[in-house]
Amino acid sequence: MYETLMKEEMKPWRDLLLVHKFAVDEIQTKLSILDEEFRNIHDYNPIEHIRYRVKKPNSITEKLERLGLEPTVENAKNHIFDIAGIRIICTFIADIYSVVELLSKQHDLKIVAIKDYIKNPKANGYKSLHLHVEYPVFLSSGTVPTRVEIQIRTIAMDFWASIEHKIYYKYREKAPTSIQKQLKECAELISDLDDRMYELKQSINDLDLN
Ligand code: GTP
Ligand code: MG
Repeated sequence: MYETLMKEEMKPWRDLLLVHKFAVDEIQTKLSILDEEFRNIHDYNPIEHIRYRVKKPNSITEKLERLGLEPTVENAKNHIFDIAGIRIICTFIADIYSVVELLSKQHDLKIVAIKDYIKNPKANGYKSLHLHVEYPVFLSSGTVPTRVEIQIRTIAMDFWASIEHKIYYKYREKAPTSIQKQLKECAELISDLDDRMYELKQSINDLDLN
């Protein structure tokens, strides 16, 4: 009896996660098509690799609690927009904007918000471009507009973000000032590296033209 009750109580959570998984599946297909098209038709592919994830229920409820909200499915639907997450890793900064352009041409994918932390990096040095999109998932019960967070960054930005993320968790959000300072310096080195690698690519293109 208790187990049945638990199962019944969990159903709205399962449905919520499932619809987000479907949205990720559909966008994954779109991105795979673009990736394959670039690999086969064009001589250059802006996408290095892509990662996909759906948040676990406990991360959703933790985030709601952090926001001072009751851990309910309704609150998750209305306040958590990164239940479905896609991370696209590009080679160069210019590729990030090409990917945004390509995504904005897909009519069923509505771009709800753009956060450009490349033009406006966070105080700690974090850079990436975030898109919040809404995608219609067609279920037997009707259409469910579903939010997905797409983070787009270069390999170098991803390298920095993954190290910074580990440090942030190790120090439970309060890294010593000296570490914060070093991370900020590394973020600057990483930006410089992105610029220099792009210049290198441009020089190679110029040589090819001659
Ligand atoms: P969250 O509550 O963390 O989702 O932040 P938000 O809703 O204010 O959105 P924001 O655009 O700041 O961050 C969204 C996501 O981007 C985060 O969940 C992380 O995956 C990533 N992110 C944002 N800031 C940082 C950062 O300083 N370092 C790292 N490593 N990742 C970050
Ligand atoms: Mg998040």
